[in-house]
Amino acid sequence: MTEPKSLLIDGIGELFSADDDGTVYYDAALVVEDGKIAWVGHRLERPAADAYLDLDNRAVVPGFVDSHAHLVFAGDRSGEFDARMSGEPYDGGGIRTTVTATRLAGDDRLRENCARLTAEMLRQGTTTVEIKSGYGLTVEDEVRSLRIAGEFTPETTYLGAHTVPADADGVLYDADAYTALAAGPMLDACAPHAKWIDVFCERGAFDGDQARAVLTAGAAAGLQTRVHANQLTEGPGVRLAVELGAASADHCTHLSDADVDALANSSTVATLLPGAEFSTRSPYPDARRLIDAGARVALATDCNPGSSYTSSMAFCIALAVREMRMTPAEALDAATSGGADALRRTDVGRIVPGARADLVVLDAPSYVHLAYRPGTPLVHAVYRDGRALE
Ligand code: NIG
Ligand code: FE
Repeated sequence: MTEPKSLLIDGIGELFSADDDGTVYYDAALVVEDGKIAWVGHRLERPAADAYLDLDNRAVVPGFVDSHAHLVFAGDRSGEFDARMSGEPYDGGGIRTTVTATRLAGDDRLRENCARLTAEMLRQGTTTVEIKSGYGLTVEDEVRSLRIAGEFTPETTYLGAHTVPADADGVLYDADAYTALAAGPMLDACAPHAKWIDVFCERGAFDGDQARAVLTAGAAAGLQTRVHANQLTEGPGVRLAVELGAASADHCTHLSDADVDALANSSTVATLLPGAEFSTRSPYPDARRLIDAGARVALATDCNPGSSYTSSMAFCIALAVREMRMTPAEALDAATSGGADALRRTDVGRIVPGARADLVVLDAPSYVHLAYRPGTPLVHAVYRDGRALE
């Protein structure tokens, strides 16, 4: 059977477009053609189409854009989480536990884990996801991590500088020696498989000079930059991201006034990851301070087995509203068009003519329910490229 050329989706009670004016349509309709949004507006003005669907007053929002996830790994760290809930701090040291498990895992196991998590995401309305390497940390394991990531998304990120690991003999690298590897031969091998480069710039991981060395080498190799910045402490990460014109500074939990200022006067998106603060029992970043200063904010899951094992953008939206002084509209905008901006994508994250028809139909009359009814499965249907997922 041939697919209908155009589909009119009618009976939309409320449509959150995430366009630049923050337009919310009521009693709306939209037309999908060739996988793209062809028209959106009030249902009384709807054009004709080849096929018709009535949503019975449900709300429609753009497919979520999860611009920060670490999905190529083996094992989990529930024991570490349990210990944290009894008062142990999080310092990123557990990354090495996952590195050991990942190096030991076969490709199929890593691929299955990635497939499981991306399927979980899609069911919950995430139609675009970024996936990082960073749990291999040998040339071979980083390359295979990126190859596997690339089977699931074009938004692949080389994160060889995730932590200073042990070498094949179990001996911890000298930080400068490992930086030279991550910015040299490892980068050369990984660059053909990645679109982005990222560094964990943090006390106990990579300092400002080391992060700069890796990022500038990555940029010279044709990769675009993003930075894990200011997650656990105030440090040079955010300002380095801005200085290098990175697409995104991620975490932004501990910010000085100068950091906020730098973000506000740049095109670098501040990507906030409240799942990490939830799972590490840390204070949440202050989104209000960033938004009021004029910074562009995105929300993402940071899905990983250590600091934030959630695949739910709706959960992050609820946390952002309850804990980070964001309105439901700001949080949803950050989880859709904000994520698109953090990935420098103009084709996703917004319901506007010409954009990819990536849609979430909610079993709710309003997008506000995403934060108002936390933990409730509200996804009625997901469309990617105009196709409804089975
Ligand atoms: O974004 N901070 C660095 N990387 C991850 C955590 C990774 C882990 O603990 O395994 C993050 O939170
Ligand atoms: Fe992360």
